[in-house]
Amino acid sequence: MAKKKPLVIVTRKLPEEVETRLMELFNTRLNTDDHPFAPAELAEAVARADVLVPTVTDDVDDALLDKAGPQLKLIANFGNGIDHIDVAAAQARGILVTNTPGVLTEDTADMTMGLILALARRLGEGERLLRAGGWAGWSPSHMLGTRLGGKRLGIVGMGRIGTALARRARAFGLSIHYFNRHRVAEETEAELEATYWDSLDQMLAHMDILSINCPHTPATYHLLSARRLKLLRMSAFLINTARGEVVDEAALLAMLKAGELAGAGLDVFENEPQVNPGFLALDQVVVLPHMGSATREGRIAMGEKVMINIRTWMDGHKPPDRVIPGTTI
Ligand code: 8YV
Repeated sequence: MAKKKPLVIVTRKLPEEVETRLMELFNTRLNTDDHPFAPAELAEAVARADVLVPTVTDDVDDALLDKAGPQLKLIANFGNGIDHIDVAAAQARGILVTNTPGVLTEDTADMTMGLILALARRLGEGERLLRAGGWAGWSPSHMLGTRLGGKRLGIVGMGRIGTALARRARAFGLSIHYFNRHRVAEETEAELEATYWDSLDQMLAHMDILSINCPHTPATYHLLSARRLKLLRMSAFLINTARGEVVDEAALLAMLKAGELAGAGLDVFENEPQVNPGFLALDQVVVLPHMGSATREGRIAMGEKVMINIRTWMDGHKPPDRVIPGTTI
């Protein structure tokens, strides 16, 4: 007898080809108008679903999991970061959590490099000036930026994305420095000619550009605190394509306003989708709406991973992208 298909509830609209395959494989409920689920809708979803497919916009915390029905056995997150999911609380209830690592690495590294270029070469400012009709013609002293070649890039979090960024940055002539919980493999360090710092504080004072590429965990919340931000040079740029919570946003804004930092490139924010209007008023800040991994190809690959994880679980095997509490970097 054919196995009963599990009820899979997907909280946001996914690429068409992913949704079609989800419909074929499982008893799937889609979100066709892509509205973010309100808490009550999410509660209803966990009460009914065998498998929940949430995204970064869903808060899957202990209180929500209290409302889960006994049939909920898998949370197959559409995304890599799992800071919006209480993985320990899920595990305590016998619910597996999976994510989609690896398939958004290159896209996010591309976007991080884009922000570095945008800041150093003032791409946003130039574009805004031209669109506003404010260009009076070429001048030798107009829109002067900072040359990337020969500068130092400090990467906080040398995982998949940090390493992919380092490879790109090398091609632009940047020298690579990094802070990470663990030193990376000798061959990787040699390939990237990367310098490892075991003290984040010490590294900060020597960098021209700092890129945040670590996940948000209790240990990395406000890792870039007001005190640490003060260690950066006044000429430094800070880029964050990881999670807003890793940087003390209020302290960052105050420093940018005071001219204590040259600029910031932010794709993520502490209270998304709200963005502190103070950032929008500053020319030396480039802001993006959390689009680091937003490519068509990436989203389809993320969908594939979600389906592989659900299918493997359904067949009684361990899904490949299981998140084990406390082991994610
Ligand atoms: C995703 C991300 O688009 O995967 C992540 O961790 O930050 C994003 O790039 C989002 O999380 C999808 O849920």
